[in-house]
Amino acid sequence: MSSPLILVNFKSYREGAGNNAGQIAEAAEIIMQESGVTIGVAPQFVELHPFCKHYEIPVYAQHIDAVEGAFTGRIPAFTVRAAGCTGSLINHSERRLTIADIEACVGAAKFNHLESVVCTNNAAVSAASAAFAPTYVAVEPPELIGSGISVAKANPDIIRNSVEAVKRVNPDVMVLCGAGIQSGECVKTAIDLGASGVLVASSVVKAKDPEAVLRDLVSLL
Ligand code: G3P
Repeated sequence: MSSPLILVNFKSYREGAGNNAGQIAEAAEIIMQESGVTIGVAPQFVELHPFCKHYEIPVYAQHIDAVEGAFTGRIPAFTVRAAGCTGSLINHSERRLTIADIEACVGAAKFNHLESVVCTNNAAVSAASAAFAPTYVAVEPPELIGSGISVAKANPDIIRNSVEAVKRVNPDVMVLCGAGIQSGECVKTAIDLGASGVLVASSVVKAKDPEAVLRDLVSLL
């Protein structure tokens, strides 16, 4: 069985920029080597290429666009691939897309050999997204995002129900969960409920010591 994925989203947090971003990536690399658990990062766009060059960890974009050509300010999937990325988030709660856009972005990711992580807000949307056969569906109840209240404690049913719903549509699609993830216990609960990992942001990116938080996140795996 492959390793669970801990995917750290830097969002547009100030703490996720510049030198601080590098320190978080370095911490991810150390903990991944130490634990054998896959730790991916989704840094801000300008960091994608340098991060891919510099760190031995999977790097994901926070968003892609299914476009090519005269589209100023967009993020083509092939550019993300050319930067050396492993994959991309699609339809994050803070970057919602239409269902047609989600399908097009998953298609663009596949075409460019990128993993796709489609974010959803509930089990029904998780099931709908699974129909596009992304690599992962990542369920995150929006009201818990950035709240410090863990989905694993406050709403384990959404994880259980999403896993069931996704596997019914396509057993090959893996499920991540996120929102308020902050400890090894949250990660263990998610895995016990059938998830293949977690999507996490503030508890790592805003931490005084991101390495210590990452070490705790993998501690019960
Ligand atoms: O992308 C992960 C994110 O939306 C969860 O945020 O701060 O609750 O870990 P946070």
